[in-house]
Amino acid sequence: MDSGQSTSLWWERPDLRYEKKHLTFDDSLLEPLARSMGTPLFIYSSRRIRHNLERLHTALGKTGTLFSLFYAMKANRFQPLLTFIKSTGLCGIDACSPEEVFLARACGFQPESISFTATSLSSQDLDLILRHDSLIINCDSISMIRKIGERCPGREIGIRLNPAMGVGYGEVDLLRYSGDRTTKFGIYREQFDEAVDTARAYGLPITRIHFHTGCGYLTSQLETWSRIITTCLDMAKALPQLQTVNLGGGLGLPHTPHDKPLDLEAWASVIHSHFSGTGIRVELEPGDFIVKDSGILLLEVNMVEKKQDRIFVGVNGGFNLAMEPAFYSLPCEPLPCSLSVDKDLAFTSENMTPVTIAGNINEALDIWAENHLLPPMAEGDILALINAGGYASAMSSNHCLRGAFREMILVG
Ligand SMILES: Cc1ncc(COP(=O)(O)O)c(C=O)c1O
Repeated sequence: MDSGQSTSLWWERPDLRYEKKHLTFDDSLLEPLARSMGTPLFIYSSRRIRHNLERLHTALGKTGTLFSLFYAMKANRFQPLLTFIKSTGLCGIDACSPEEVFLARACGFQPESISFTATSLSSQDLDLILRHDSLIINCDSISMIRKIGERCPGREIGIRLNPAMGVGYGEVDLLRYSGDRTTKFGIYREQFDEAVDTARAYGLPITRIHFHTGCGYLTSQLETWSRIITTCLDMAKALPQLQTVNLGGGLGLPHTPHDKPLDLEAWASVIHSHFSGTGIRVELEPGDFIVKDSGILLLEVNMVEKKQDRIFVGVNGGFNLAMEPAFYSLPCEPLPCSLSVDKDLAFTSENMTPVTIAGNINEALDIWAENHLLPPMAEGDILALINAGGYASAMSSNHCLRGAFREMILVG
């Protein structure tokens, strides 16, 4: 760690660290950005986004597997960020609604580099997506296969499978898209023959299978992930025209000091073990892995007060701006943007106090973190929430009419 200081905090990395007493991200001091742009403010680093895309290319490239990457734009659709991603040339787009397809095209992505996988589609949705001739389409249900067959007989399709197994961050069941609980996603083994018969009836060649079984998996779940691939490939044996397997997204990143980062070499070697020498092209559609640690949310402290046995630090943004901590219990890491003493002293147990960090929404679940150790905070200070680049602004709401925020991307 190139921080010039002796101890390093678990989340620190060369582009996110304290420089003297100030938090810096991608060579920019965060507090002055908050003061000039105002808060709540999301800041994204284009360099980190490129770095994450390159890490995936490097890991997969070493395996010799044929592969394509699609960025899952549901994670973050800030248009300057999408345009930057397009300019890297390192991936296409995974879209999950007609409007996402239109936005991807507006940002320069051609239909053949947009992969569409969605759920509960209406006839009108299908009419809209089928306007884009070479769009890659994965069908999530038999109903969708039939509707495509009625509109475009003979069109190539992919089918999304549900292997009834899943992987996701920690024990969070809602982050598993298939598993013990029956979910709406994809075609189950029991439905598989009917799906194939429906496609055959309309002359739709099934050239791709797709599965995305959860979000946030780390190294310890790679064994299960490998078994999921085996199960899906077994289902796909009945597809003579299979050319491509889309392994979804779901690659996770650490949220606490106890989480180890996903070992990309081990991950890529799972892919290699299944696909080497098969001639099958592998597709991946990560969202979080590309943008989550490329974004920070800056909020201003507007209240510090002891209530009964707890010290509350109130900030000017709530769960409606970044809902994962409240909805999925995903741990978040609030940090002061400026310290009153050097970092080595600031983060000692003598200097820190456990606090509850609360948002400004009138809901009991509007808590960012509880029992979180922080150096002393005062009204007017700026707090940074790291790992806010994915599923935060994109899922924000205007609850309590507090949905306003700004976004900016650092382009270095
Ligand atoms: C079909 C599909 N693909 C990709 C993703 C991206 O997942 P992640 O951001 O965890 O990589 C999702 C997320 O919900 C999804 O539903």
